[in-house]
Amino acid sequence: MRIALLVLTLVSAGSTAAMAAESSGPHYTVYPIGHVRKAEGRTLIVLDKKYEPGLRGLGDFSHVHVIWWFHKNDVPQKRSILQVHPRGNPDNPLSGVFATRSPVRPNLIALSLCKIVSVKDNVLEVEKIDADADTPVLDLKPFTPGPDSASGVRVPEWAKPR
Ligand SMILES: C[S@@+](CC[C@H](N)C(=O)[O-])C[C@H]1O[C@@H](n2cnc3c(N)ncnc32)[C@H](O)[C@@H]1O
Repeated sequence: MRIALLVLTLVSAGSTAAMAAESSGPHYTVYPIGHVRKAEGRTLIVLDKKYEPGLRGLGDFSHVHVIWWFHKNDVPQKRSILQVHPRGNPDNPLSGVFATRSPVRPNLIALSLCKIVSVKDNVLEVEKIDADADTPVLDLKPFTPGPDSASGVRVPEWAKPR
């Protein structure tokens, strides 16, 4: 059976497609819909104007999943790393990147759950986000308590709340 290889290429000025170019199989292209902006203690997700209609209704939710790109790690060496010590702590057990929230991984997709402050025009303000300023944002999805919640949660020792 042929296994399709998923490779996501972020198209933007300055991003590299080197990893994708090295891989065989299908490629999937994503574009930034906007960027994280931080100023004067506020955290904004400023969408390109053309995506503004896509924000309609988001203000009725309290929280949003922000899907973004670890663009500072978009080099082949970092995209080839498959195991890390979580949280950069050598005391934590060597783990596969898919068992961590590591910012190095083959596809540089990040996911942050954010509290919505406001939605106005093409700008979403959130309380905070662990993405750096100017980070490309790929998608937004509202937090919906049913599908986005879990019971009987189990995590390894290193991942327990600090
Ligand atoms: C551990 S990752 C977790 C990100 C996200 N919450 C997730 O789980 O996918 C968060 C760290 O990524 C790093 N980071 C933030 N923005 C970045 C960017 N644009 N490119 C690369 N690293 C970034 C920062 O060091 C930040 O503390």
